[in-house]
Amino acid sequence: MITTVVGAQFGDEGKGRVVDYLARQADLVIRFQGGDNAGHTVVNDAGLFRLHLIPSGIFYPQTTCLIGSGVVANPATLLEELAELEAQGIDTGNLKISNRAQMLMPYHPMLDGLEESRRGKQQIGTTKRGIGPAYADKAARRGLRYGDLAHPAWLRQRLELALPSINHKLAYFGAPTVKIDDLMAQCAEWAEKLNGRIVEPLKLVRGAVESGQNILLEGQLGVMRDLDWGTYPYVTSSNPTAAYAAVGAGIPPQKIDVVIGVAKAYATAVGAGPFPAELTDETGQKLRDIGQEYGATTGRPRRTGWHDVVAVRHAAWLNGFTGLAVTKLDVLDEFPEIKICTGYRLPDGRRLDYVPDTAVLETIQPIYESWAGWQTPTTDARSWDDLPANAQNYLERLQQLIDVPIQFVSVGPHREAMFAV
Ligand code: GDP
Ligand code: IMO
Ligand code: MG
Repeated sequence: MITTVVGAQFGDEGKGRVVDYLARQADLVIRFQGGDNAGHTVVNDAGLFRLHLIPSGIFYPQTTCLIGSGVVANPATLLEELAELEAQGIDTGNLKISNRAQMLMPYHPMLDGLEESRRGKQQIGTTKRGIGPAYADKAARRGLRYGDLAHPAWLRQRLELALPSINHKLAYFGAPTVKIDDLMAQCAEWAEKLNGRIVEPLKLVRGAVESGQNILLEGQLGVMRDLDWGTYPYVTSSNPTAAYAAVGAGIPPQKIDVVIGVAKAYATAVGAGPFPAELTDETGQKLRDIGQEYGATTGRPRRTGWHDVVAVRHAAWLNGFTGLAVTKLDVLDEFPEIKICTGYRLPDGRRLDYVPDTAVLETIQPIYESWAGWQTPTTDARSWDDLPANAQNYLERLQQLIDVPIQFVSVGPHREAMFAV
């Protein structure tokens, strides 16, 4: 069985906790895109972890974890993350990296920061982890890949090709340029430390698929930040949608059986750009306080809002969701009234039932319907029947509007605070 887990909103939906929950039955977990802009929080009996690059299946010793070919992975932060996990007693021996994964180089975060400051008022609000510049170099065919570490002469040639344009940009911003010998020395150190982890991915992946193993494909971010289908240009530089899981993991698309869209019971976003159902009032602050909505990677306060089914339907179509996992239901426990954004109103009064292009999305007003809250704690619920009637009504309404079955509900951050419906 091959299952893809992706974000149905603006990221931070709880993908990490869903993967940690589902991985108990997985033989192989593959992160298929993004980089250390991700912050996937996992809370289980081993502790609280914020994973940035390492797949959320790492807590199961029998599960192999692969950083897939579609990822741009910073070797320095990867090594830090490995060291942190090991310091917390987690065995990371089963972490492998595709030789096709891009190496996010020290100059990429520098360029990310410089390009953001040049944007002035049009800043994207990136995580400044270098994701955009790394994917740009990949597309421009001057990226370096993990496999290159085993071939120093080839690596040096690749760097010789890349550096003039990198240094040209750094000099344009008045920043210090980078030197090939320093980077080669850095690469030699990474090669030594990552020795044994860099693999030919298809040997592993194809073998697992052909022998019918359970495979989880873990996405980063969510559809509204998809490079093609999100709120461009306020997006990331890869596709967090399920179609890219096939590319980034190296699996034929028709082999993927299940696509789980993870959505909060409400919504949050980090970074700039339109967020139609945003709440900038005290209700939004209450969601932030109760939901502890602060970025797992940057610590920035997350923008908060009501659940937007227009956006999640957009996600459902683009990803082909076979089921939804609704997280953080417990955060709504205290609210007397809960709203759902069911459509968008254009300035001329017309109603939209789809996500329009960004220039139009910036002009719309959300259309809401209102539901009575349950005002009862749900965090101890371990089955559908344990939920208060109004919580069931709310979830049933979401399911009806999105037209995808809710298969999992989570009511707390811990691994066990989640149940199948
Ligand atoms: P991801 O990036 O999609 O993996 O999500 P994040 O880890 O960035 O953000 C989700 C946050 O919500 C984390 O702090 C989780 O520990 C927390 N969380 C996940 N599920 C639940 C839940 O059902 N209830 C509560 N209260 N917190 C949750
Ligand atoms: P997870 O995987 C929430 C946002 C940034 C910015 C935009 C582009 O934990 O859901 P980037 O650094 O990718 O160039 O930034 O995307 N962003 C995230 N928001 N969760 C994330 O990851 C994010 N990764 C990037 O805030 O708006
Ligand atoms: Mg996150």
